[in-house]
Amino acid sequence: MLLKLFLVGLGLGIAPLTAGDEHHRFVYSGFSNASLTLDGTASITPSGLLELTNGTALSMGHAFFPSPLRLRDSPNSMVQSFASSFVFGIISIYDLSSHGLTLLFAPSKNLSAIPVQYLGLFSGSNNGKTTNHIFAIELDTWQNSEFRDINNNHIGIDINSLTSLQSQPAGFFHDQNGTFKNLTLSSQEAMQVWVEYDREKTQINVTLAPLAMVKPRKPTVSAIQNLSDVLADVVYIGFSS
Ligand SMILES: *[C@@H]1O[C@H](CO)[C@@H](O)[C@H](O)[C@H]1NC(C)=O
Ligand SMILES: *[C@@H]1O[C@H](CO)[C@@H](O)[C@H](O)[C@H]1NC(C)=O
Ligand SMILES: *[C@@H]1O[C@H](CO)[C@@H](O)[C@H](O)[C@H]1NC(C)=O
Ligand SMILES: *[C@@H]1O[C@H](CO)[C@@H](O)[C@H](O)[C@H]1NC(C)=O
Ligand SMILES: *[C@@H]1O[C@H](CO)[C@@H](O)[C@H](O)[C@H]1NC(C)=O
Ligand SMILES: *[C@@H]1O[C@H](CO)[C@@H](O)[C@H](O)[C@H]1NC(C)=O
Ligand SMILES: *[C@@H]1O[C@H](CO)[C@@H](O)[C@H](O)[C@H]1NC(C)=O
Repeated sequence: MLLKLFLVGLGLGIAPLTAGDEHHRFVYSGFSNASLTLDGTASITPSGLLELTNGTALSMGHAFFPSPLRLRDSPNSMVQSFASSFVFGIISIYDLSSHGLTLLFAPSKNLSAIPVQYLGLFSGSNNGKTTNHIFAIELDTWQNSEFRDINNNHIGIDINSLTSLQSQPAGFFHDQNGTFKNLTLSSQEAMQVWVEYDREKTQINVTLAPLAMVKPRKPTVSAIQNLSDVLADVVYIGFSS
C-alpha cells in the first residue's frame, strides 16, 4: 500500500506585487493548532510543523488558512498579481513511494476529493472540470499515466485538473551558467517554493530550490493562464495530500 508521511514546515506569505497593498500581506512562520483549518490526517506537530498525512493507507489531509483571501479588488474584477512562498519537507516512513502534496487556491475549504492519486484535490467525477475553480501547484512523487505525469519527481501547475498545464522535473536552474540541477522531492531535505503571478502577462512562475538558496532567477516551471478566468471571488489557500 502507499504509506508515507509528509511534513510541511512552513513559512507562508502571500503578497500582491503592487505597492501600497500591505494590508493584503500575511506571513506564517510555523504553525499553532489555532492558525489552520485541518481535516483528515492533517495535524500540527508539537514543534509546530504541519503534517498532512501520517502513514495511514488511503488517507488524505487538508490544511487551510481559515479566512478567505481577497485576490480581487471587487467581485468580478481582475485577480491581482501576487507572490507567495512556502517551505516543505517530505519524510517517508516506509520505503515506498506515494503521491505528493499541493499548494492550492480553491473556492471552499470543503473539496469533493478522494485519497490517493488525486492528491486530495479532486475525485474521478470532477477532475478536469472548469467548475472546480482550483489553481494548484503539485509536488508529485508518483508517475501516474492517467494524468500524463512526466516522471515520479516533478512540479506542476494545475488548473482544475491533475493533468498539469505545465510541469518540469523537480530542480532549479543555476544563475551562474543556466544548467539545470535535479532535486529529489522525497529526499527529506527542506525546500522552498515560490509562486508568482503577473496579471498583465497572465504568467505563473514557480521556482523550487533548496532551503538555503536565494531564489534562482529562472523559474523551474512557467505557464500562461489568466487566473481571473479560473478562480472564484472567494479564494481559500491551503495544502492537500
Ligand atoms: C492518522 O490519522 C488518522 C485520522 O486522524 C487516525 O485515525 C490514525 O490513528 C492516525 N495514524 C497514526 C499512525 O497516527
Ligand atoms: C496541537 O495539538 C496536538 C493534539 O492536541 C498536540 O499534540 C500538539 O502538541 C499541538 N501542537 C501545537 C504546536 O500546539
Ligand atoms: C462537505 O461537502 C459535502 C458534499 O460535497 C457535504 O456532504 C459535507 O457535509 C460538507 N462538509 C462540511 C464540513 O461542510
Ligand atoms: C554551474 O554552476 C554551478 C554553481 O556555480 C556549479 O555548481 C555547476 O557545476 C556548474 N555547472 C556547469 C556545467 O558548469
Ligand atoms: C535530471 O533528471 C532527469 C530525470 O528525471 C534526467 O533525464 C536528467 O538527465 C537529469 N538532469 C541532470 C542535469 O542530471
Ligand atoms: C517569470 O520568469 C520570467 C523569466 O525569468 C520573467 O521574465 C517574468 O517576469 C516572470 N514572471 C513572473 C510573474 O514572475
Ligand atoms: C483576464 O481575464 C479577465 C476576465 O475574463 C479579463 O477582464 C482580462 O482582460 C484578462 N486579462 C488579460 C491580460 O487578458
